Amino acid sequence: MMFVSGLCSALLLYTGLASVLGQDLGDMPFNESLDLAGTVSLRWGFDSKQETITFQLACKTSGWVGFGLSPSGEMDGSDIVIGGVNPNGTTYFTDRHAVGDQLPLVDGSQDYTLLSLKEDATGTTMKFSRKVQTCDKDDMEISTSAMKLIYAYGADDSIAYHNNARGTKSVNLLQSTQRSTPSQDTVGQLEMMVNSFAVPERETYYHCRIIKSPNFPGKRHVYRIEPKIQSGNVDLVHHMLVYACPASVSVELEGECYSGQSMYVFSSCQQVVIGWAVGGQDIWMPPNAGISIGTSDDPVFYRLEMHYSNSKLSKGRVDSSGLVFHYTSELRANDVGMLEMGLIVDPSYVIPPNAKDFKTYGLCNTSTFSQVLSGDPPVLNVFASLLHTHLAGRGVRVGHYRNGEQIGFLGKNEHYDFNLQETMFLGSLVQVKGGDEILVECTYNTESRKTATQGGLGTTNEMCLAFLLYYPRTKLASCWSLPEPTAMSAALGVKGTSELVALMNSSVWNDTAVGRFERTVRSLPQLMAVSLSNGTRTVGLGFIREFKSSPATACTTLPLRGAGESCAPVTAGLGLCIALLTSLISLTGTL
Ligand SMILES: *[C@@H]1O[C@H](CO)[C@@H](O)[C@H](O)[C@H]1NC(C)=O
Ligand SMILES: *[C@@H]1O[C@H](CO)[C@@H](O)[C@H](O)[C@H]1NC(C)=O
Ligand SMILES: *[C@@H]1O[C@H](CO)[C@@H](O)[C@H](O)[C@H]1NC(C)=O
Ligand SMILES: *[C@@H]1O[C@H](CO)[C@@H](O)[C@H](O)[C@H]1NC(C)=O
Ligand SMILES: *[C@@H]1O[C@H](CO)[C@@H](O)[C@H](O)[C@H]1NC(C)=O
Ligand SMILES: *[C@@H]1O[C@H](CO)[C@@H](O)[C@H](O)[C@H]1NC(C)=O
Repeated sequence: MMFVSGLCSALLLYTGLASVLGQDLGDMPFNESLDLAGTVSLRWGFDSKQETITFQLACKTSGWVGFGLSPSGEMDGSDIVIGGVNPNGTTYFTDRHAVGDQLPLVDGSQDYTLLSLKEDATGTTMKFSRKVQTCDKDDMEISTSAMKLIYAYGADDSIAYHNNARGTKSVNLLQSTQRSTPSQDTVGQLEMMVNSFAVPERETYYHCRIIKSPNFPGKRHVYRIEPKIQSGNVDLVHHMLVYACPASVSVELEGECYSGQSMYVFSSCQQVVIGWAVGGQDIWMPPNAGISIGTSDDPVFYRLEMHYSNSKLSKGRVDSSGLVFHYTSELRANDVGMLEMGLIVDPSYVIPPNAKDFKTYGLCNTSTFSQVLSGDPPVLNVFASLLHTHLAGRGVRVGHYRNGEQIGFLGKNEHYDFNLQETMFLGSLVQVKGGDEILVECTYNTESRKTATQGGLGTTNEMCLAFLLYYPRTKLASCWSLPEPTAMSAALGVKGTSELVALMNSSVWNDTAVGRFERTVRSLPQLMAVSLSNGTRTVGLGFIREFKSSPATACTTLPLRGAGESCAPVTAGLGLCIALLTSLISLTGTL
């Protein structure tokens, strides 16, 4: 029941308008209808570090409303909030969890914060926030993959389970994008697809196809990238990547990605444009930006990489799937740029065998941009990133630093899986300003390997890369680093990479030795290289700063590594052990 005077309703209208035009849409840019009838709708948003997520659930009822995250889409095991407005105007709101199909129990730790709870003629609107990772065993962590959202509501405020007003919908909360569709008469499609490809009877197969971009009568903007999976092949197509090729690539080509002679041609197209992984939806560019095609600054050839997962080894399967680039001639204000960061792909980048979580770092100090670009340092509005390692990669984090302090992340995935690479949206725009530093950290597991893993193009070689999607586009192509080779040889007491690799191949590595090697490499001066798309290059030196732990790891107490270091006599590892000791001594000497 509600009485509003003329002034009041004018005020309400004004606040309503302000919330639509301003703050509310700003901090909650995403929305989804949870049911077909439009009875329950959800709006949400999160901060750039993806630490806090804010929801607004609107439901056409004056009774209680419930919303939750469920492992299966069912009640059991789900993380739930229930709230509502009593007939006397008081409100209730609790963080709960479901055990079986009973009334969800109230959590011991209340981790959802109620921001507002209103009831009017159109229904009940509940706005609340929580941490992406609350660290409460009764809550679910919000992941970067699609999650099953559940909802339920009652006709009145007596919370009872038994009713039919409930449902579930799969939504990727942290991967949503704003959609802006251009007028129909301006659009076209560019297909990056395979054509009737006979999928081999192999559990894992990476198929590559180099595709020439057609000639466009002028510049176009790609605004949407749509995964098109051949009907019946949803089980086969695991992930798809599109890379831009350099000018050295001038013919179309098709074959296996990571073996045979063509591998080198395929691998030279290594600048990622977009990535899609199983469960992913359409990828939309921000409303004010598009990926430029059809100009002389744009790639002529692209490489499509299809990852097939034929786990049942089924015979005779044929596939015509891929990604469709939807473009428009209705040009947007900004071109999207892609900047490659991380570790320079080079054989001197070596990972020891038998490592549980070996970390490598690649630095980009934007202070060096002024050496290759004229004018004021560019401001990069970063909206998405794609993280890339090969098979040994287990985690990638991209730290953003200003004035020597880490101010956030430009991407992170602490459960990295080579077979689930995709473009990840930051949720809100992050500005990288002149003088900022970006540090890419990769974590590897080589416990199943007996010999050194070197940087390189093959899937059993490694990479540690982050591709940032930003606007407006600049001429920057890459900004990455490598431990300075002379300093590395000196610190480890080896003459170059092959000696280091030989030593690694022949010695026994345990946590202590791995940890010590990691710290030594990390403490070295880093050689940075910045390249423009026209080939102009500059180099500089830098160092690796401390990395903040991210919320997801803050919950668990990680065992400290490197306690009680000593070199025990291992048959062939002695040389390295001594070398490492020397490096440790020289390191201590400089402190
Ligand atoms: C999302 O919100 C916009 C603007 O309020 C609306 O036009 C659109 O229909 C909504 N979409 C869904 C799926 O509810
Ligand atoms: C309002 O109603 C609720 C639910 O019936 C009751 O628990 C609460 O005490 C009431 N509060 C007031 C101020 O009347
Ligand atoms: C190290 O081992 C790898 C894998 O067995 C081998 O390919 C490589 O040649 C070895 N390198 C050296 C320098 O021993
Ligand atoms: C590349 O672009 C930069 C910046 O615009 C310019 O200074 C440089 O001369 C160009 N180099 C070549 C080889 O065209
Ligand atoms: C980045 O460059 C600035 C200016 O040269 C320098 O002061 C700073 O130490 C550099 N940062 C790192 C991490 O190397
Ligand atoms: C690791 O190896 C070193 C010799 O390289 C040895 O001294 C140490 O005891 C080993 N540590 C563990 C935990 O096995």
